[in-house]
Amino acid sequence: MKGFFMGYEIDGVLVAASSPATENAVNAGACIHGGAGAVIFKTISGCRMQKESESARRCFFREGLLWARSDFNREILPVDERVILTGNSLRAASVAALTLEPEDWLPVCEAAARDNHGIQLDLFYIENLLAVPGFEEKFIRLLTVLQAELPVPIMPKLNMGFPAAYAARLLKTANIKYVSLLDSVKSPMPVYWEGTKCFIPEHMAGEGLSVFGRFMLPLTKQYTHTLMQSGFQVCAGGGVTCARDAAELILLGASSVQICTEVLINGYGRFNEIQRDLNGIIGKDINTWRKKTLEKPAVERTCEKVYPCGLCDVCCKNNTTNYCRCST
Ligand SMILES: Cc1cc2nc3c(=O)[nH]c(=O)nc-3n(C[C@H](O)[C@H](O)[C@H](O)COP(=O)(O)O)c2cc1C
Repeated sequence: MKGFFMGYEIDGVLVAASSPATENAVNAGACIHGGAGAVIFKTISGCRMQKESESARRCFFREGLLWARSDFNREILPVDERVILTGNSLRAASVAALTLEPEDWLPVCEAAARDNHGIQLDLFYIENLLAVPGFEEKFIRLLTVLQAELPVPIMPKLNMGFPAAYAARLLKTANIKYVSLLDSVKSPMPVYWEGTKCFIPEHMAGEGLSVFGRFMLPLTKQYTHTLMQSGFQVCAGGGVTCARDAAELILLGASSVQICTEVLINGYGRFNEIQRDLNGIIGKDINTWRKKTLEKPAVERTCEKVYPCGLCDVCCKNNTTNYCRCST
């Protein structure tokens, strides 16, 4: 099975997402060895926040959710600490800045373009991105300048703060072809964990908390669908834990699937395992499988009545036909 990543063909469809799993050469090598068809290295930047890094990165895993606390200086690598891999493996740098001014992006992107096949633009740390004065004009100009100046493709990474349909319109205007999905969800810390009465550890308190987990998958699906419909090549991820999740994104039109948390928790070997299971679901050719799957009726009817609301199957299975809105 072949996927596509930033216009390049890759073996399989899986990509190692920018994260601690790609923050040094050893980890990135383990992703490739573990079965990732491409890697997106940990984000680098030429900017630093004025305040010093407050502490180490803290992670806390509970009830299927990974909570991580960090800050820009701790999380984002200076340019001279960027990972440089040689060899054939397909690789993209990830670059962040704190403004939308091209001069904050261009020198770092130029350096990264020397040893990578493409550049992901990490917009996560621009505070209230959409509220930046003159946002639309500045954003489109930044993308236009970067595309004109760089010898490799660029791929903006979206997060929930940037609604899919709005992003699609601006990215189209800027002539962008590749999109990366989906960055984490920023969330205040929970006071205590429902049911367990377990208070969150003190070291997790404070700002800069993100939450990761399978709950992101429906969001990722919505972004994938919208962006694919608008004609972008999408490297989709966020909430992918198994082959079935990845298959859903492929069905919606994703060209490749990026994974982070599942690999951080269960090891680099997850790439090979998920790709193997995907081969079992999809077979050799994605397009053939997509066509066959989309042609199948989504629901096999189990009752004779056909209710226009489309709920009859659910109602029959649960023996609650009386509640079907169209049954009268
Ligand atoms: C600890 C941690 C650090 C991350 N650092 C970055 C980063 O530097 N740049 C980036 O674009 N995404 C970063 N991410 C986000 C992931 O690339 C990915 O978008 C997100 O975790 C959702 O995918 P997942 O559900 O597979 O984890 C990080 C995620 C985690 C858990």
